[in-house]
Amino acid sequence: MIRTDLATVQPAARLRGELRLPGDKSISHRALLLATLAAGDSRILGASDGADVRSTAAIMRALGARVEPDGEAEGAAERGGAPGRGRNVSYRVDSPGADGLRQPGGTLDCGNSGTSLRLIAGMLAGLPLVGVLDGDDSLRRRPVARIIEPLRRMGAELHARDDDSLPPLTVVGHTPLRAVDLTTPVPSAQVKSAILLAALRAEGRTTVRERVATRDHTERMLRARGVSVDRVADGDGGVAWTVEGGTAVRAIDQLVPGDMSAAAFWLVAGSIHPDAELTLRDVGVNPTRRAVVDLLRAMGAEIEERPVQAAAGVEGDAGRASGADPDAGEPMADLVVRSSDLRAIDVSPPEVAAAIDEIPVLCLAAAHARGTTTIRGAGELRHKESDRIAGIAAGLRAMGANVEIDGDDLRIQGGAHLRGATTDSLDDHRLAMTFAIAGLVATDPTTIERPDSAAVSYPGFFSDLEGVRA
Ligand code: S3P
Repeated sequence: MIRTDLATVQPAARLRGELRLPGDKSISHRALLLATLAAGDSRILGASDGADVRSTAAIMRALGARVEPDGEAEGAAERGGAPGRGRNVSYRVDSPGADGLRQPGGTLDCGNSGTSLRLIAGMLAGLPLVGVLDGDDSLRRRPVARIIEPLRRMGAELHARDDDSLPPLTVVGHTPLRAVDLTTPVPSAQVKSAILLAALRAEGRTTVRERVATRDHTERMLRARGVSVDRVADGDGGVAWTVEGGTAVRAIDQLVPGDMSAAAFWLVAGSIHPDAELTLRDVGVNPTRRAVVDLLRAMGAEIEERPVQAAAGVEGDAGRASGADPDAGEPMADLVVRSSDLRAIDVSPPEVAAAIDEIPVLCLAAAHARGTTTIRGAGELRHKESDRIAGIAAGLRAMGANVEIDGDDLRIQGGAHLRGATTDSLDDHRLAMTFAIAGLVATDPTTIERPDSAAVSYPGFFSDLEGVRA
């Protein structure tokens, strides 16, 4: 990839168009992991071709699975076609299954991907292998104690840098693991999923409790692959999941819906731009991922939702041959967003957890809303690909917005007329895309430093950005 270190975004007079987004990143990672744990052939249709998911695919290969682009399915899965071409990929995964995976010869490079790091650690914990997980400078600042502690309790051996706090992370797997009953230390789907993946290799039934419910893709996808996973209410908003160890994961074909976290940029662009109508096709609307739609609607955004049958996205042979559960329990919809008159809202800590990846772009919506928006309990944002609290505040302030940081809370005064400025993405994909969207509604051109980070989750983002200028 040629690295250009600056992108300039011109204001847009109108926004119109229909977009197909990259395949959901969270679902794409999990589909690759589960296909590798299953013996036999799985197809993954319309997975994200972003750098993060490529890191996971390369690691699955290092563990002994054959992971190859499936050209045949590419044409069949509509989501792989234009204008989505280049951002989605369909994979055929042929794996010996959990018991046949091999000892990797070198370090497992997670690149920029925290999801790869945490989920693969959980997967390795119950295998008779040693894995060393590492990645780029940003990944080396991501906390790992949150997974080391529960996985050790299950019987695996883990070591990390700086007193077991930061990557590189070494996992010495153990078979079988112990079933446990524990509560995740922070609301994190990555931590929960690491435990659930390890639990597949434990003797007995493991229970994972969350004080605040997070995305449940792992649970839905395990069920679709024949593993018994139950959800039980666990007091005041909490939820507990139980999973039976020792069940083999079945190979199935799965369609990956469009990524809601990518859709969020266009939902905000459409609502804050005075002359906009954008249609987003086949977006994943899993109830644990759609909080951004509900928060924007609470702000007054005009977002229409048209449910889509999963099988409709898979045409031709791939759709028919897959037979099995085409969506693996992941609902999809087309979303239409139109120019809206936004008002401020109060975003509570559980809402922050539910919309964790969309908070940066929601801050941009807040800067355009009438009144002052408060986002409470957003501390986890400091531990993402960058310190997103500092990054979003710096970028939006440079463009003229009034953003106040008070501990882990953000207060954004609305009604700003953003002006073009130079903003720094901090090499963080979600900040790069937020500032680019801000550039569409600013009064003069906006410059984004280190814009290529967008390709971590959304290859083709900047061409979509040019494509929606009517
Ligand atoms: C993810 C969970 C979230 C999210 C990340 C993807 C996942 O991270 O921010 O982009 O796929 O499970 P945490 O679990 O650290 O909150």
